[in-house]
Amino acid sequence: MTCSTVFVAVIVSLPFLSIMATNPPSTCPCSDQSLCDPVTRKPAKEVFVFSVGGKNWKKYDWSKVTSIVMFNDYDAELMCYAHSKQVKVLLKGDFPVANLTDIKARENWLLDKLRKAADWHMDGINLDIEQPINDSSIQQKLLTDLVEQTTKAFHVQNPHSQVTYDVAWSPDCIDGRCYNYKAIADAVDFVFVMSYDEQSQIFGPCIGMANSPYNKTVKGVEKYLEMGIPANKLVLGVPWYGYNYPCLNVTEHDVCYIPKVPFRGANCSDAAGKQKDYSEINRLIQNSTTGRKWNDEYKAPYFNYKDSKQVYQVWYDDPQSLKLRYDYAESKKLLGVGMWHADALDYSDDKMAQKQTKEMWDALPHQSHGVTLE
Ligand SMILES: *[C@@H]1O[C@H](CO)[C@@H](O)[C@H](O)[C@H]1NC(C)=O
Ligand SMILES: *[C@@H]1O[C@H](CO)[C@@H](O)[C@H](O)[C@H]1NC(C)=O
Ligand SMILES: *[C@@H]1O[C@H](CO)[C@@H](O)[C@H](O)[C@H]1NC(C)=O
Ligand SMILES: *[C@@H]1O[C@H](CO)[C@@H](O)[C@H](O)[C@H]1NC(C)=O
Ligand SMILES: *[C@@H]1O[C@H](CO)[C@@H](O)[C@H](O)[C@H]1NC(C)=O
Ligand SMILES: *[C@@H]1O[C@H](CO)[C@@H](O)[C@H](O)[C@H]1NC(C)=O
Repeated sequence: MTCSTVFVAVIVSLPFLSIMATNPPSTCPCSDQSLCDPVTRKPAKEVFVFSVGGKNWKKYDWSKVTSIVMFNDYDAELMCYAHSKQVKVLLKGDFPVANLTDIKARENWLLDKLRKAADWHMDGINLDIEQPINDSSIQQKLLTDLVEQTTKAFHVQNPHSQVTYDVAWSPDCIDGRCYNYKAIADAVDFVFVMSYDEQSQIFGPCIGMANSPYNKTVKGVEKYLEMGIPANKLVLGVPWYGYNYPCLNVTEHDVCYIPKVPFRGANCSDAAGKQKDYSEINRLIQNSTTGRKWNDEYKAPYFNYKDSKQVYQVWYDDPQSLKLRYDYAESKKLLGVGMWHADALDYSDDKMAQKQTKEMWDALPHQSHGVTLE
């Protein structure tokens, strides 16, 4: 006997959701049928993890994880395993901003997500809508509506479910994303602050810089707090990847000028570089001409290396820089931390890789013991 979620029939509070049908509960793929039940644990602190596919998740440090987003394909084995650890498993939700005015498209989208959540025994959805929206536009209002309706519908279908939204590192129209961040945060269970790609719009000198500079990260979080979003609705998202920049030239103070690649209104951006997972950065650093260096303003490591053509500068985060950010989240009493993404580490049997991977997981905060049931 299992009490797993059944796709719900009617939601009175949602005017446009009038045609919901009830599906029979889908079969449970887990060997222990109770693992298909919704996760009811409400941890005091979040460690919010993105998983992008493959089977590396078997090697995650599950003593740390509280929520996991299956960002790409559904993996039933991962769902069963996460549930055995009382970890919430989440769908990813994106929606084309151009379709926001299409009520039918929104309804179909939401019904599809609710049905998937029920059929796959998921514990909610992580909304990752990152498209540009103009300030005071109709889309701005409709996006908020979509988020509110999605949250309500998921909570009706499964009262233990979790709905979250991935917001930019700062609320001030980053990358043209002029959303109503306060209203979005009010609607969802919590927001995941993507404190990375912070050089997506470079307005000063066109140079390589840290992916998640400490001062910029802090500034962004402060702005969210200042707009009245409570600390316990903010999860600080950090990068487990960095940027590899080709340098036009490098000054004696290690300033790497990069080609001008425009992005959403800026003439220079991190798109001049290539994103590299932490695993690959650990291979690149073996060829570095500088060794690992530390920038104390950004509180982040970097190094330079050369190939036959030119010099590159790599900016990244490692256990030392990440720990400072986790400590900041703790000091501000944020709900927790998370990372994009857990599969950026090297989970092979290589001894050096194992050590580096363990250090990354170890740097994350420990689960606090006070676990409460809803
Ligand atoms: C958005 O609208 C386009 C054009 O009408 C359509 O092809 C697409 O399926 C829609 N997508 C969603 C998720 O509604
Ligand atoms: C946003 O505003 C800009 C500048 O006014 C305009 O060019 C663009 O078409 C607008 N975008 C949308 C989606 O309305
Ligand atoms: C962060 O520090 C750098 C280097 O000192 C400075 O250029 C930048 O303006 C600072 N950013 C913020 C948001 O304070
Ligand atoms: C490096 O390149 C940038 C951009 O092309 C240029 O503005 C700057 O003067 C150059 N610096 C040196 C030391 O060559
Ligand atoms: C981008 O470059 C163009 C052409 O040089 C210039 O007119 C414009 O002001 C620049 N935009 C920004 C945001 O710096
Ligand atoms: C390091 O340099 C060597 C020799 O140039 C090259 O063969 C190798 O591919 C480089 N390693 C990485 C990770 O780029």
